[in-house]
Amino acid sequence: MNDHGSMRQTERLAADAAGLARAADILRHGGLVAFPTETVYGLGADATNAEAVAGIYAAKERPSFNPLISHLDSFESAKIQGMFDETATRLAEAFWPGPLTLVVPIAPSCTISDLARAGLDSVGLRVPAHPLAHALLQGTGRPVAAPSANRSGRVSPTDADHVLGDLDGRIDAVLDGGAAQVGVESTIVSCLGGTPRLLRPGGVPREAIEALIGEKLGTGAEAAGSSPLAPGMLASHYAPRAQVRLNATSIRPGEAALLFGPSAPQGVEAAQAALNLSKNGDLVEAAAHLFSYLRQLDASGAATIAVSPVPETGLGEAINDRLRRAAAER
Ligand code: TXA
Ligand code: MG
Repeated sequence: MNDHGSMRQTERLAADAAGLARAADILRHGGLVAFPTETVYGLGADATNAEAVAGIYAAKERPSFNPLISHLDSFESAKIQGMFDETATRLAEAFWPGPLTLVVPIAPSCTISDLARAGLDSVGLRVPAHPLAHALLQGTGRPVAAPSANRSGRVSPTDADHVLGDLDGRIDAVLDGGAAQVGVESTIVSCLGGTPRLLRPGGVPREAIEALIGEKLGTGAEAAGSSPLAPGMLASHYAPRAQVRLNATSIRPGEAALLFGPSAPQGVEAAQAALNLSKNGDLVEAAAHLFSYLRQLDASGAATIAVSPVPETGLGEAINDRLRRAAAER
């Protein structure tokens, strides 16, 4: 294949020491491994490796970039990535390991890539309870980004056969741990200050959370969840301060330039700053750079970021979706 990620031979790995070692090795080398959690099977990639994370979107054919949940082996590991206030700490201590995801501000020591966070300063973290997931995360020694292991628009998989039905030939391996137990995704609670908010109902009931924190959960106006949101509604998306000008075939003086492909557009010498998403026109590489380059160009102080045309194929669809939101948001 090409933009959709290379065609791969998908290994079915047994739930034993050799299978776990192989799965961890693939993840550490930037590959894609589906693995069981107590909720659903996740499609995992090293969360610190933006190109590996871009591979998740390519394999799923997901047409837009949402922030992904990063999975960790322990609360200790989670604290390296995110900042836990008193409430978040209580929730983590009560419900981890388990089907709860906490959205918290990133810590200064955060190593999770911009792409996994969709450019946000917050991060979704979860410590799963499934023993195989736990062993895999320990063996990998890194946060693992994992949405449900299905193609976009299909139901979340609860066993290895479901995963292969959707993703055979598109991922490196599936760790076969039998049936997932809960079958619904984790509950997502945002702890970004003030009253925590329920972004998605899931495996941990709302009542159990409210009983613990002694107050009602707020609702997620910026809603997460599996259902797609109207463009512009997603307040949790990173929006650059600068104006964004799409399909720019020449650069005006003082603009910042977000380039794609081998050809240099007219006027690029006079740009305030210029970065190329992928000189070879590789859409997986471009996706990996998208959020960090937008941020860097925004930080240049230019009033406008001019963006070269990006083809609407493969990951280009998700890249263009994000760029159109950035151009519209204000
Ligand atoms: O049970 C589960 O949660 C499964 C298993 C594999 O762990 N994972 C899962 O991941 O459902 P995913 O990527 O499909 O769910 C991600 C959801 C998105 O709806 C996203 O909006 C929300 O988590 N999310 C993640 N980080 C966020 C953030 N920083 N701010 C707001 N929402 C966030
Ligand atoms: Mg899903």
